[in-house]
Amino acid sequence: MKKVITYGTYDLFHQGHYNLLSRAKALGDYLIVGVTSDTFDLERGKMNTCNNVMERIDAVRATGLADKIVIEEYKGQKIDDIQKYNVDIFAIGSDWEGYFDYLSEYCQVVYLPRTEGISSTQLRNERPMVRMGIIGTGSIANRFVPEAEFVNSVSVVAAYNPDKREADEFCLRHGLPHSAATPAELYALVDAVYIASPHYTHYEYAREALLAGKHVLCETPFVFREAEACELYRLAEERGLTLTVALKTAYCPAFGHLLSLLKSGVIGEIVEVNASTTTLMSEDSDKLDSRFYGGSMNENACFTLLPILKLLGTDYLNIRFYSKIKNDVDVFTKAIFQYAHGVASFQVGLGVKTEGNLVVSGTKGYAYVPAPWWKTDYFEIRYEDQNRNKKYFYPYDGEGLRYEIKDFVSSILSKDFFYSKVSKQENLVMARVQEQYMKGENVYRI
Ligand code: CTP
Repeated sequence: MKKVITYGTYDLFHQGHYNLLSRAKALGDYLIVGVTSDTFDLERGKMNTCNNVMERIDAVRATGLADKIVIEEYKGQKIDDIQKYNVDIFAIGSDWEGYFDYLSEYCQVVYLPRTEGISSTQLRNERPMVRMGIIGTGSIANRFVPEAEFVNSVSVVAAYNPDKREADEFCLRHGLPHSAATPAELYALVDAVYIASPHYTHYEYAREALLAGKHVLCETPFVFREAEACELYRLAEERGLTLTVALKTAYCPAFGHLLSLLKSGVIGEIVEVNASTTTLMSEDSDKLDSRFYGGSMNENACFTLLPILKLLGTDYLNIRFYSKIKNDVDVFTKAIFQYAHGVASFQVGLGVKTEGNLVVSGTKGYAYVPAPWWKTDYFEIRYEDQNRNKKYFYPYDGEGLRYEIKDFVSSILSKDFFYSKVSKQENLVMARVQEQYMKGENVYRI
């Protein structure tokens, strides 16, 4: 029996894919089709697939041409598969001519004619576009526009800044067609807004945008009061709009894998979480100005709260805060959370530097994520018996914003997309913690 193997992403399955599979099948008696996993696609920098791996596998299966379907998860797997399944022919479209010659050491390599005039890229480009506008044109917004270019089906078309000259310069710098003179002008031009304005303006802009019927991606910290967060979610839900908080750590591939591993019990029962995020600032920075809601808690607490709420849940029993205050803002805060079966703590600072790592301790071992854990590509699971220790690497591309933009756009375009990386409940609790701190409840000065 002659075995043939071929690989692809098969996103938005089309006639070109079908023809290729038929041609590959005709080369032998048994066809194995490798479909790339979502994580492997991400690792290869393919941010833009519209169908997830299960949908892509279903599409390949529906052709009736594949005798076996395997998931391609890592570089080098082709050689392993060829050996494992005793494959005679590796077949692939002619767009890869020459690229896979190295496999001829293991089996025959055949480049098949590609179908002209159709590709997944072309089909993706024909799908509806989310037109996006940016409110606030500071440093994060400057990183957002180039990152959005990696994401399919989104186009940043306009920006607004109360200082019109700044908005004009921003649009010129990034080649955006519209510099809006007012928020209303911006809303009229777009389907969705990215709010990257100073923290204390988030609530007003998000409310206004939702009332104008626009989807909202809001930078962190989201808002400082739980009632405000509740109201924004209500407005979004009533209008069928997406409201997402741009907490980029939540979208970081390594962080996602860490959560899944820990939830699967690799360190036993989780008993303690400790996270530190500190960024030293000059004293005259706005981030240390009480008039602009400056301070370590407002600036950094959302990052450190994330692993705590994800791993120990949102039902903590109480929190205590210990703060070093200077010029009316906290230059350093340590918070301690009591849970029924665990304890958590975090350190945030703009005027005090700590080691910025994350440690999650369990009854069988612990997870160690080195600084800066909030944008890491690496972590370790450690045990009493060091021989069992394991290191995990997951690449993190560019500024990392592309992952949250991709999720945001998918949630707007795909009706089946329900999963949000940070839940409504988690965002509400983050706002509650900020509010409790600002009210001075259980806050002790050091
Ligand atoms: N293929 C083909 N004819 C096309 C498109 C794809 O023969 N018009 C082949 C590719 O050469 C490959 C297989 O189909 O062997 C799977 O390709 P894949 O990369 O999934 O599809 P594309 O449409 O090329 O996707 P993209 O536009 O994202 O590159």
